[in-house]
Amino acid sequence: MKIVNTLELAQHGPVIPVIVIQRLADAVPLARALVADGVRVLEVTLRTPVALAAIEAIVRAVPEAIVGAGTIRSAADAQAASDAGSVFGVSPGYTTAVGAACRDAGLLLLPGVATASEVMAAQADGLSFLKFFPATAAGGIPLLKALAGPFPDVRFCPTGGITPQSAPQFLALPNVAVCGGSWLTPADAVDRGDWALITRLAQACAALRAAE
Ligand code: 3PG
Repeated sequence: MKIVNTLELAQHGPVIPVIVIQRLADAVPLARALVADGVRVLEVTLRTPVALAAIEAIVRAVPEAIVGAGTIRSAADAQAASDAGSVFGVSPGYTTAVGAACRDAGLLLLPGVATASEVMAAQADGLSFLKFFPATAAGGIPLLKALAGPFPDVRFCPTGGITPQSAPQFLALPNVAVCGGSWLTPADAVDRGDWALITRLAQACAALRAAE
């Protein structure tokens, strides 16, 4: 499914799962388990040799999913992610070069930032929905509150160290649109193909915003 603006990613539930696929065969059942309970926006990190093939497989077999590539660090990553059918890219940090590469590749970018200077660099390139990474280590809720003053027009997707317990507090901040996290796809559950557990974790997400 296509989107025209990264902020649309926040309209499909309060959590964007950060997914690491080790075995290609896991990609489609894992995506189906998440999508079954309304978690449609999936970030598949480019951290494993099968990541691009996994994105292709999910795009082909799970049309309800809105699939993005995480860990975009270079122009080559951006082009490969776009070629694999990713609708968006997520980068751990922001450089003008990565921003330009994503634009050239036709890939919407959710860029990572952790400081005011990085927010300014991303905004200067027209980006105002930003991943706040690594959220907990970089300053968590107090830093997000502090950034709200000078950047009232910026929205964040905090990612890194967020848990089901802390997510409601992050989601309650006016400048947080959605959270990212790996807790929806625990490595041991993926290893044993426990898709029912992953669907239950996805189900539980819906309550995170309601719990604010
Ligand atoms: C990552 O880089 O793996 C993401 O930020 C997810 O972080 P988490 O595992 O702390 O949710």
